[in-house]
Amino acid sequence: MIDINKIRNDFPILNTKVYGRQLVYLDNGATSQKPLQVISSVAEFYSTINSNIHRGVHYLSSKATEEYEKSREKVKTFINAKSSAEVIFTKGTTDSINLVAFSFGEKFISEGDEILVCETEHHSNIVPWQMLCERKRAKLIKIPVDNNTEIIMEEYEKLLSSKTKLVAVAQVSNAFGTIHSTEKIIEKAHKFGAKVLIDGAQSIQHFSTDVQKLDCDFYVFSGHKIYAETGIGVLFGKGELLSQMPPYQGGGDMINSVSFEKTEYAELPLKFEAGTSNYVGAYSLLKAIEYLENIGLKEIAEYETELKNYAFEKLSTIPGLEIIGNPKNNSGVISFTLKDIHFYDAGMILDKMGIAVRTGTHCAEPAMKRFNILGTIRVSFSFYNTKEEIDILYNGLLKVKQMFE
Ligand code: ALA
Repeated sequence: MIDINKIRNDFPILNTKVYGRQLVYLDNGATSQKPLQVISSVAEFYSTINSNIHRGVHYLSSKATEEYEKSREKVKTFINAKSSAEVIFTKGTTDSINLVAFSFGEKFISEGDEILVCETEHHSNIVPWQMLCERKRAKLIKIPVDNNTEIIMEEYEKLLSSKTKLVAVAQVSNAFGTIHSTEKIIEKAHKFGAKVLIDGAQSIQHFSTDVQKLDCDFYVFSGHKIYAETGIGVLFGKGELLSQMPPYQGGGDMINSVSFEKTEYAELPLKFEAGTSNYVGAYSLLKAIEYLENIGLKEIAEYETELKNYAFEKLSTIPGLEIIGNPKNNSGVISFTLKDIHFYDAGMILDKMGIAVRTGTHCAEPAMKRFNILGTIRVSFSFYNTKEEIDILYNGLLKVKQMFE
């Protein structure tokens, strides 16, 4: 059971007053707030551990390296990768996807090949593939969704062929919260020999992840959405695939030896970690995962589902409020429009009541186009939110409506 009072005490920012009102933070899809355990870990690191990793024989460098590798080991266990060599630290989801688009693309994509992405993807899971396709004269194809924002499996299957080299899909859509049937998507792609990248940016923080069970080839996520610092992220890739891919960036730490005649690259995972990595961020990620594990991923998922169902029920009683997506197959996000009210106006009025939501296209313009809308109001949850906060949101939305009537 979630001890909500204890949890909220861990997040000092939740006590913020906005225009004299208590903050109601419902923009967790954009970034999560940080518990004291993570905030203080950063000060602790700089106060007692800080030194560059993998570079010195001295005490602090060894200690910093040890913590960095401990974090990698923690991520490995958290997502159930086979080996910690399959866990690459990056700047975040976008960086991880760009790494794969460049490196996998260099090795495995040729003219005429096809890459499939769902039409409601975040721009970070569209644009890097578009750039790759331009470079390689390959073709980017969108997988259509139905009116519930769910991938149309029959259409997806029709798009798969021996030309398909990669499928990239979010496990949970950032714009609508839709949970895609990733296991089925992966299984079907593999029948054609295509590889699959799963964007876990909006799922990793809500329910447990098992990359071996999923059998995905790549899995990416950001630290800042899972209660760690910004600027740290993860790329999981199957070892046999990553070892065939060329490095994405050159520099220190990614080499075994360098001469002007020939450079030998380091083994995994360092081959993909050129330069000084964000090792403090990695430490904060270790602490964030430990924090989540102490609460329990199962407990988090149950509590957030209860919260989301409560919100769905309440919000759907508001006349003129249209929820985009299927509430039964959704995680962490409710995205909606208000009839005759612009989402920015609604967002600004809600802000004056202390309620933080995201408004607009959510970096998913094609998704908005699919539903013939300019944008939505997006409410996204964390386990530190409460039903009382949903009530405040509900009353806030009624006020917004009153003001426009
Ligand atoms: N990708 C983040 C979001 O969906 C910023 O809000």
